[in-house]
Amino acid sequence: MSVQRDFGAGVTLESHGKKFVLRLSGAASAGGLFVLDLASVTALESATQAIEELAGIDGLVVIGHARGFVAGADVKMIEAVDDSGSASEMSRRGQRLFRRLERLKCPTVAAIHGACLGGGCELALALDRRIATDDASTKIGLPEVRLGILPAWGGTQRLPRLLGLPQALPMMLSGSQLDARRARRKGLVDRVVPAAFLLEKAIEELDQPRRERRLGMAAKIATWTAAGRRIVAGKARQEIEKGTNKLFPAPRRILEVVLHGLKHGEDEGHAAEARALGELATGPVCKNLIRIFFASESARKLARTLDPSAPAIERALVVGGGVMGAGIAAHAARKGIRTRLVDLAPAALTRATARLEKTLARALKRRRIKRHDAQRARDHLEVSTVMQGVRGRDLVLEAIAEKLEIKRTLYADLEAKLGDDAVLATNTSSLPLHELASSLRKPENFVGLHFFNPPEQMPLVEIIRHDGVSDATLARAAKFATKLGKVPVLVGDGAGFLVNRCLAPYLGQALALCARRPSSVERIDRIACDFGMPMGPLRLLDEIGIDVAESVCAVLAEAFPERMSKPETLGVLSEAGRLGCKSGQGFYEHEGRSSRPSDATSKLLSQQIASHDALPNATDMRDRMILALVLEAFRCLEDGIVATEEELDLAMVFGIGFPAAKGGPIRWARDVGLDTIRARARELGANGDRAFEVPALLMRLADEAANPARGDAEAGAVTDAGANENREPEEEAGSPAMSQ
Ligand code: NAI
Repeated sequence: MSVQRDFGAGVTLESHGKKFVLRLSGAASAGGLFVLDLASVTALESATQAIEELAGIDGLVVIGHARGFVAGADVKMIEAVDDSGSASEMSRRGQRLFRRLERLKCPTVAAIHGACLGGGCELALALDRRIATDDASTKIGLPEVRLGILPAWGGTQRLPRLLGLPQALPMMLSGSQLDARRARRKGLVDRVVPAAFLLEKAIEELDQPRRERRLGMAAKIATWTAAGRRIVAGKARQEIEKGTNKLFPAPRRILEVVLHGLKHGEDEGHAAEARALGELATGPVCKNLIRIFFASESARKLARTLDPSAPAIERALVVGGGVMGAGIAAHAARKGIRTRLVDLAPAALTRATARLEKTLARALKRRRIKRHDAQRARDHLEVSTVMQGVRGRDLVLEAIAEKLEIKRTLYADLEAKLGDDAVLATNTSSLPLHELASSLRKPENFVGLHFFNPPEQMPLVEIIRHDGVSDATLARAAKFATKLGKVPVLVGDGAGFLVNRCLAPYLGQALALCARRPSSVERIDRIACDFGMPMGPLRLLDEIGIDVAESVCAVLAEAFPERMSKPETLGVLSEAGRLGCKSGQGFYEHEGRSSRPSDATSKLLSQQIASHDALPNATDMRDRMILALVLEAFRCLEDGIVATEEELDLAMVFGIGFPAAKGGPIRWARDVGLDTIRARARELGANGDRAFEVPALLMRLADEAANPARGDAEAGAVTDAGANENREPEEEAGSPAMSQ
C-alpha cells in the first residue's frame, strides 16, 4: 500500500515499499507540464529534505506527468528578473537543490516521457540514471541558449562530464533537442522503454548495479586534457563568431563556463555558471529573445482567439506549382494535410514532386523523419494538370502569377466548384485583397495567406484580412498555417501588407547606394550583415527574384508615390534577363552553392545608370538602409496594418530575419532611443528624401518618451563596432551615428 505526501505545486512523494517515487505534475494552465518556478522549486526543496530524512530507502524515481517530465524553468521568471544579483541567486538555488539530489545515498533514476528540457534536463542529469520512453513526444535537451541564457542549474558542468566535451558542447550551443534513441546513442539516456512500462522499468532499474559511464579515449582526451579542449573550443569559437551568431553573447559565455569548470573543477564551474546567468538574464539580448518567444507563443494561439470553434483544415488544394506553390504543397503534405497541387505546366509538377523528394531525402539522411513518415508525405501529395477534386477541399490556396485579372478569372472558376464553407486563399505578395475580392460571390471565405520564400523554411505567414472576410475564415487560415508549423501574424490589407512594405524602403536605399557605385554590391551587403541581417539586401533581391521584386516595388510605388519608387536598377537587370538566383545571374553570379559579385552586372549598371556620386560612409549607409525600414514599420503601426508592436517585431524577425537579438525594428528603435531615431531621420531626410520623413506616431512617442527606453548605454556596444570597422579612411566623418 503506497503512502503519499503532497508538497504542493504538483510535487508528491509516494512509497513503493522502500523505494520512493517523486511525481511532478504541472498546473492545468501549463497543459499539465511541470515548470520550474519559485513555488515548484520550494516544493522540490521540501520534498528533497523529506527524502534525505528517510531512513533505509532503497531508491528514488523522479517521474513527470503523462504530458511530460519537466518543461524547464518558467520563462516569465527569467523575463522578470532585472538585477544580476537575483539572477545569480536563482542559479545558485537550483544548483544547491540538484546537488542535494545528486548526493542522495540511494540510487536515483529519472523516468522521462515528453518534454525534458532546460532545468528539467539538468534535474535528470543530477540523478544516477535516466530512462526515457520511445514516444514521439519525448524530447531531451538544453535549449537555454535560444533565450539568450545558459543552463545554470549545473547543466554546463554535468553534461560535458557525462557525454564528453565534443558531444556536450554542440548540444548546449545549438540548444538542440534529442529524441530518446538519439539521446541513448549519445549516452545521455541509459535505456529506452515503451511509455506504458516507464514507471515499472524505472523502479526495476533501481536494483541494477550502478554502472559508471566511461568516456572513450578520444572523448577523454578532448575533455580532460588542455590540448584536447583547445581543439574543441577552437572549432566552437569559429561557429560562435560566424555571421550573425556574434550578436548573441550566450554561446560565448557557455563555452567559457564549460571550459572553466573542466579546468578548475565543478565548484568553480558552478560559481561561473551563476555569474554568467546574472549577466545574461539581465542583458538586452535575453529580454529581446524572450519578448519574441512570448509573441510567437501568442501568435500560435491566433486561430483560437479569432474563432475557437473553427474546424481544422484536413484537405487542401494548391493552384500554381511554381517557386511558392510547390514548396507550400510539399510542406503541407509532410505535415499530414491531404494536398492536391494543380498546375497547367506538367514540368512544374515534376519539379514539385522532385522538390518533395529532395526535402524528404535530406530529412531521412539527418534522421529527422522515419521511412514511413516519408511514405506518408508522398501519399499525401497528388499532382495534376487538371482542375479536379475542388469540392471537398477545406482550403484552396492560389499561388499563380502575380496578375490581378488572371487571379480573378481563376477565382470565378474555383468558386463555382468550391463547397460553401471552403476557404479560398491567395499567396499574393502585393495585390490588394479588396480588389481581388471585389468579384467574389463569397468574400467572407476569402483571405490572404502570404508565405515567404522558401516556404518550407521561412517561419512567418501573414494572414491578411480585408473588410469582407469572416473571423471563421481568418481562424481557419491561421489554423492551416499553425498546422504547417508556421507562425501566423494577422495583418491589414494595404499595399505590400506588412513585411514587404517595410522591406521595400530598405531594399530601395540599398539599390540607390548601388546605383551610385555598382561595384560596391558586396560592401553594401556586408554593412547590412554587420548590423545583423542574415544576408545583405542585394543578395536578398537575387533570392527573391529581380522580376518579382520589381513588381512588388511597382505596387508599392503606386500606393506611396511620395516616398517609394520603382527602382531603375531593377528594370535594367530584369530587361537584361539577370533575374537573380533563378537565372544564375543578378547582383551576384550564382553557381551551385557559391556566389560572387557579378562584374557583368556592375558594368551594365555603370553604363546605364550609375551616377558616380561618392558613397557615404559605412555608418551613414547602414543608417539609411535600416532607418528606412524602421520608419516604415512605424507607419504600418500608425495605419493599423498590424495591431501591436510585438506582432510587428515578430513578423520582421521571422519574415526577413531582422536580428532577433535586437528584438525587431520597433524594439530596436526604442532601445536606441526614439529621440535619437527621430533626430537621425531628420538628418538623413535633409536632402528631401521623404523615406526619412518622421511618421506622426514616432513623433508622438518620441515626445512622450521623456526618458529614452532602457539599455541605451548597453545597446551601444552591440554592433557599432561592426559598422565602424567598415569606415574607410578617405570617408568624411558622418553625422553622429545611432548608438547601435
Ligand atoms: P511562379 O511563376 O514561380 O509560379 C506560378 C505557377 O503558376 C507556374 O508554375 C504556372 O505554370 C502556374 N499557373 C499560372 N496560371 C495558372 C492557372 N491558371 N492554373 C494553374 N497553374 C497556373 O510564381 P511564384 O513565385 O511561385 O509566385 C506565386 C504567387 O506567390 C504570386 O502571387 C507571388 O506574388 C506570390 N509570392 C511569391 C514569392 C516569391 O518569392 N516568389 C513570395 C511570396 C509570395
